[in-house]
Amino acid sequence: MRIVMLGAPGSGKGTQAKRLEAERGWLQISTGDLLRQAVADRTELGLRAKAAMDAGELVSDDIVLGMIKERLTKPDAGRGFVLDGYPRNAKQAEDLDHVLGELGLKLDAAVLMDVDFDILMKRLTGRRTCSKTGKVLNIYFSPKEEIDECLQAGGELLRRDDDNEETIRNRLEVYKRQTAPLVDHYAARGLLRRVDAEGTVDEVHGRLLAALGL
Ligand code: AP5
Repeated sequence: MRIVMLGAPGSGKGTQAKRLEAERGWLQISTGDLLRQAVADRTELGLRAKAAMDAGELVSDDIVLGMIKERLTKPDAGRGFVLDGYPRNAKQAEDLDHVLGELGLKLDAAVLMDVDFDILMKRLTGRRTCSKTGKVLNIYFSPKEEIDECLQAGGELLRRDDDNEETIRNRLEVYKRQTAPLVDHYAARGLLRRVDAEGTVDEVHGRLLAALGL
C-alpha cells in the first residue's frame, strides 16, 4: 500500500510507520529522520535545515521535495511506502500529487493519527532513542523490559534536540496552522482514515490495521 501518515508531533506516526514497515515491508519514509541524518552528517542540506528544525519550524518545501523525490524513485519504494511527516502544508500536498502523478502512482490512504493535545507534551518530553538499537522508546510509557533491554545492551537513551518544551510548543502551533488543514485535502479525495491514536501502541496498531481494511 501507499500511505500518508498525518498527525501532530508525538501522535505516533513514526512508531506505527516502523511497525508497518516491519510487518508488511512497506518502506517508512520519514522526512524528519532524513533531515536529522543530513544534520548529523553535516551535509550542506543538513546545515541549511538545522536552524528551522531547532526552532520547530518547517524546513523549506524545496529541500523536502528533493528528498522525497529521490527516495520515491529508488526501486525499494515499489514495495509500497508509508510517508511519515510528509506532506506538512498545502504546497507539499500539491507537490506530492505532482510527483506521484509523474511516477504513475496513487495513494491508497491518508491516515490521521488523532490524539488529544494534552497527551502529546508528555509523549514528546519522554521520548528517547536507544543509541544501540535505534529503537524509539518513552520513559513514561514504554514497558520497563524494553528500556532495560537497551541499557543492558550498553545503549544510552538519547533525547532529540527538538524535544524540549519550548520547541515542542512551536511544533504543535506549526502543526495546527499548516498541517491540520491537510485533513480536508485528503477527505475531499476520499482517502482520509481517522485512527484514535490514544491507548497502548498495540491497541493503536490494531485500530490502524482496521482503518486500512487489513
Ligand atoms: P519529525 O521528525 O517529522 O517530527 P514530528 O512531526 O514533530 O513528529 P514526531 O517524530 O515528533 O512524532 P511522531 O508522531 O512520529 O511520534 P513517535 O511515534 O515518535 O520532524 C522534525 C522536524 O523536521 C520538524 O519540526 C521540521 O523542522 C522538520 N521536518 C520534517 N518533515 C518536514 C516536512 N515535510 N517539511 C518541512 N519540515 C519538515 O512517538 C512519540 C513518542 O510517544 C515516542 O516516545 C513513542 O515511544 C511514544 N508513543 C508512540 N505511540 C504511543 C502510544 N500509543 N502510547 C504511549 N506512547 C506512545
